[in-house]
Amino acid sequence: MKGIILAAGRGSRLYPLTKVVNKQLLQIYDKPMIYYPLSTLMLLNIKDILIITNPKDLDSFKILLGNGSRIGIKISYATQDSPKGIADAFNIADNYIGDDNVTLILGDNIFYGHGFLDPIRKIIKNPIGATVFGYPVNDPERYGVVEFDSNYNVLSIEEKPIKPKSNYAVPGIYIYDNKVVNYAKTLNPSKRGELEITDINKIYLNNGKLKVNLLGRGVAWLDTGKPNSLFEASTFISYIEARQGLKISCIEEVAYNMGYISKQELKKIVDRLPDGSYKDYLFSFLISINS
Ligand code: DAU
Repeated sequence: MKGIILAAGRGSRLYPLTKVVNKQLLQIYDKPMIYYPLSTLMLLNIKDILIITNPKDLDSFKILLGNGSRIGIKISYATQDSPKGIADAFNIADNYIGDDNVTLILGDNIFYGHGFLDPIRKIIKNPIGATVFGYPVNDPERYGVVEFDSNYNVLSIEEKPIKPKSNYAVPGIYIYDNKVVNYAKTLNPSKRGELEITDINKIYLNNGKLKVNLLGRGVAWLDTGKPNSLFEASTFISYIEARQGLKISCIEEVAYNMGYISKQELKKIVDRLPDGSYKDYLFSFLISINS
């Protein structure tokens, strides 16, 4: 299973924050935004990850994350010249995906909650068709929206409908078999000029191969699209971290817990970190696993 993090786009709704800095490098409390989707993929046992970003931001991502070997994973990079749409990721990543299956996560999607990764891990082991998720929101018109019958069979999926047929939004994590690469090649730009991920999902739906799993209400799917939601996401992360004394999406801790790096490798990382709360946290973590 390959993983893709889509981290290009204009970030226009966050202007002027995004005039110089890529949206996915903006602060979510104590880490860059991309740490959150990256750790989601890592926790799903996906270790071969492609980051797609804008040409102008490529070097920044490389400085931040390198080739991933430091945290026991492989990170490759590709660029999207202009925001042609989310489904364009599969055209860009065509060679990278090869004959594999692929999980795409949007670089601005943050997930947090107990137990929600377990069923996704099972799907990832043996993906058939497409699996997307449904999450209740109070503003579904801003998202892809999925409609079910009373047995939760999918009836329709629509991108940003004016009159949503349900309040279930489709979050930005999508699991596909290899057919997605060919399906992406058949897409035409939508009215807003983008290759829509929802159009890919419609192809799977029409072929009877789209599964929608509901994310329970105990899972937090955080929005980072507008200045207030960006701020609220930071506040949410800061509350949980302060209450538990545990960091959310600390990629080095995740790497150790997943067995991607040894204790010695973690120690080397910690030794090289600049002094500050991030180092203090990882230092305490190191002591806790030594005792
Ligand atoms: O967040 C989930 C929603 O994401 C889904 O419910 C929608 O079906 C899906 O279309 C998408 O809607 P958004 O309007 O929120 O997508 P946005 O244009 O904000 O792009 C989401 C991320 O993907 C953002 O971090 C930038 C990146 N992106 C987007 C486009 C269109 C790219 O890297 N390249 C692109 O061409």
